Amino acid sequence: MKIALLGATGQTGQYLVRQALEQGHMVTAVVRNPVNLAVHHDNLKVVTADIFSADSLKPHFKDQDVVMSCLGFPASFFSGVTGYTASMAAVVGAMRDARVNRIITMTSWYTEPDSGTQSPYLIRFLLLPMIRSVLSNMYEMESFLEKTEDINWTVVRPPGLKNLAASAQELVTHEGYFVPDSSGQTVGRGDVARFMLSLLNSNAWIKKGVAITTK
Ligand SMILES: NC(=O)c1ccc[n+]([C@@H]2O[C@H](COP(=O)([O-])OP(=O)(O)OC[C@H]3O[C@@H](n4cnc5c(N)ncnc54)[C@H](OP(=O)(O)O)[C@@H]3O)[C@@H](O)[C@H]2O)c1
Repeated sequence: MKIALLGATGQTGQYLVRQALEQGHMVTAVVRNPVNLAVHHDNLKVVTADIFSADSLKPHFKDQDVVMSCLGFPASFFSGVTGYTASMAAVVGAMRDARVNRIITMTSWYTEPDSGTQSPYLIRFLLLPMIRSVLSNMYEMESFLEKTEDINWTVVRPPGLKNLAASAQELVTHEGYFVPDSSGQTVGRGDVARFMLSLLNSNAWIKKGVAITTK
């Protein structure tokens, strides 16, 4: 397939680029700084664009089968986070112009404000308040996607990320904001990339948010 990938220079993005190329896909990495991408391959095209501008993204989305995003923006106590909604508005605008209607993007467990009430003590009282600005903007972005009728979106929600390559471990999925009764609160970035790429061959999670982890 032809994949336009945002956030390709990030930690999860780089796993996704490598796995996608290994699987024979053609990848267009849409980045702000090509130097940050340490992968070179005949089927990898690296282009520079502004993720907040539909006009800038549109030419790179033309003739693509799918847009995938591993974009991330840092938490901010003072000014809030707007990167997820601002970039997604531009991305969806560019997708419509370029006639691409499939997007697979990642957010996180616990984006819904009340979904962490049963989470472990340290997560509930320390981690979630620290990253609330990120989770809130992710949740707004998810709500925006839910309102798009013409876009086949999937939101992939992982728990804490670790820099681990894809494993052979079974992936556990749940339609919701976390995976209930799961043993681990972390997952390898390689396994997140593995799951996101598996969605290219499946209609199972179209127009849905899916929380994932590994067994
Ligand atoms: N950390 C966790 O435990 C955790 C848990 C669950 C979910 N998540 C979420 O999962 C996602 C991926 O996480 P990650 O750790 O793999 O991400 P990451 O390494 O921080 O990568 C973020 C990516 O976003 C790109 N980006 C940020 N601002 C940009 C801008 N203005 N223009 C263009 N590109 C921009 C970065 O590009 P540059 O290389 O140019 O900076 C990079 O490619 C994030 O949304 C994160 O919040 C994280």
